[in-house]
Order: sequence, then C-alpha cells, then structure tokens
Amino acid sequence: MRKAYIAGNWKMNMTPSAGAAYAAELAKAAAEAGADVKIMVAPPFVTIPAVVEALRGSSIIVAAQNMNDHKSGAYTGEVAPEMLKDLGVTTVILGHSERRSYYKEDDAFINRKLLLALEEGMDVVLCVGETLEERESGKLEEVLSTQLVGGLKDVKAEDMEHITIAYEPVWAIGTGRTATPEDADSAHAFIRGQIAKMYSDDIAQKLIIQYGGSVNASNVKALMAKENIDGALVGGASLSVEKFLPIITYDK
Ligand code: PGA
Repeated sequence: MRKAYIAGNWKMNMTPSAGAAYAAELAKAAAEAGADVKIMVAPPFVTIPAVVEALRGSSIIVAAQNMNDHKSGAYTGEVAPEMLKDLGVTTVILGHSERRSYYKEDDAFINRKLLLALEEGMDVVLCVGETLEERESGKLEEVLSTQLVGGLKDVKAEDMEHITIAYEPVWAIGTGRTATPEDADSAHAFIRGQIAKMYSDDIAQKLIIQYGGSVNASNVKALMAKENIDGALVGGASLSVEKFLPIITYDK
C-alpha cells in the first residue's frame, strides 16, 4: 500500500516572514483536520530556516527546490546539500521543468545532483514530463524514458526507496490545464513499467509517483482515485492554506 504524498512547491514566492506565518497556520489546520497523508512544503532557500522553525514538532517535511551538484567550493550563488541538511532539510526537488527550460538543466546535470543528494542521505523528488509539442508528436514515452534513464543513472536498487517521481506535463503547469485523470494515470503506469524494467516489479510497486500541473481542490480527488497516482506536486494552489488544506484532506 503506497502512502499518499502531497507536496507544495512554492517556487519563487513567500518571504521568510510570510512563509513562517503560512507554515504555522498549515501545521495547525492539518492537525485539526486529521490529515493523514505525507505532506511536504518546498520554500525558496532563504525562507527555509523560518519554515523549519515554524514546523518544529510537526511531521510536515521541508524540502529544497534545487541544490548544487558539488559538496562545496567556488560556485558563486549556489547552495550545497550539506547546508540544506544543516537547516533540517531532508528532501530536494530536482529536474523541475522550470529548471530544465529556464536554466538549461539536462538529464546528466540533474543526475549528478541526484547522486550527490543520495550520497548525503537526502530524499529526492525527481520531476519528469513532456512539452505539448512532444506529446502531440507522439514522443511522450520516449521523453519520459529518456528522463528516467538519464536522471536515475547509477542509482542503486537499494536507494530507490529515497526516490519519488513527479510526473508534470509541462503544458499543464501553471496553465489551469490539467491532464485528465486517465491521461495522467496512463503516463504514471508507463513510468511504473519503466522502473520495473530498470529495477524490479517490487521497487516499481513501492514507488510513489506524484502528479503535478494545475492540481487544485476540485480536481485532486479524481486524480488521486487513479490506481497509479499516489500524490501531487502542487504549485499555485499550495500558496495559501485555504487552497492547500482541501488538497491534503482530499480523502476526508
Ligand atoms: P502548478 O505547478 O500547480 O502551479 O501548475 C506545479 C509545479 O510546477 O510543480
């Protein structure tokens, strides 16, 4: 049985003071509502300490949205995994489509970060997904399998328990256009099948696959009802407790 895993990716939103107020409100509301899903929030780097502090004593996970592929050194403007761990960050999102497209991150670069995160004992949410053009030209499966093989290169079977995959069709992110639950489920089934080929059926069955792309309170239930959809990576609708609470309590 896979435990539902719902994550809020704040992207470049929320100052430290706004993040702390939000986190305290979320922890209280989630506890009162009896939310029993695994919950994660990913604030911008500078907002992380205030959020970790506000979430002390709560089981809500604090993740980073990115990290560097080196342990330390002369990389101006970058953040190392050890710095994140020192703050209490256990998890990092890697390969988000905004990083792939705006900052030209490719699979090899994402893979170097992912291997370093595992070496540092962190959990990873690896994002994969196709553009509209790729989907319309019949390349969905090719794109997903290239991103999975490239992103997970040299990841050992025993480390797969630290990996979550987020399927985020690029055309559905921030556009209000969601994949239908059926389309999303079939992409998730394909991803699970690839993982079974790369590793084993057992690892594929245990793998948590989140869907991301315009998830909100009104579509989350239908998405989560699908066999292969185990969670959500939520952007816009994670930015207020009012919108995020009904998502993390979709089963209530
Ligand atoms: P969205 O973003 O929910 O605003 O579409 C999702 C994401 O990019 O993780």
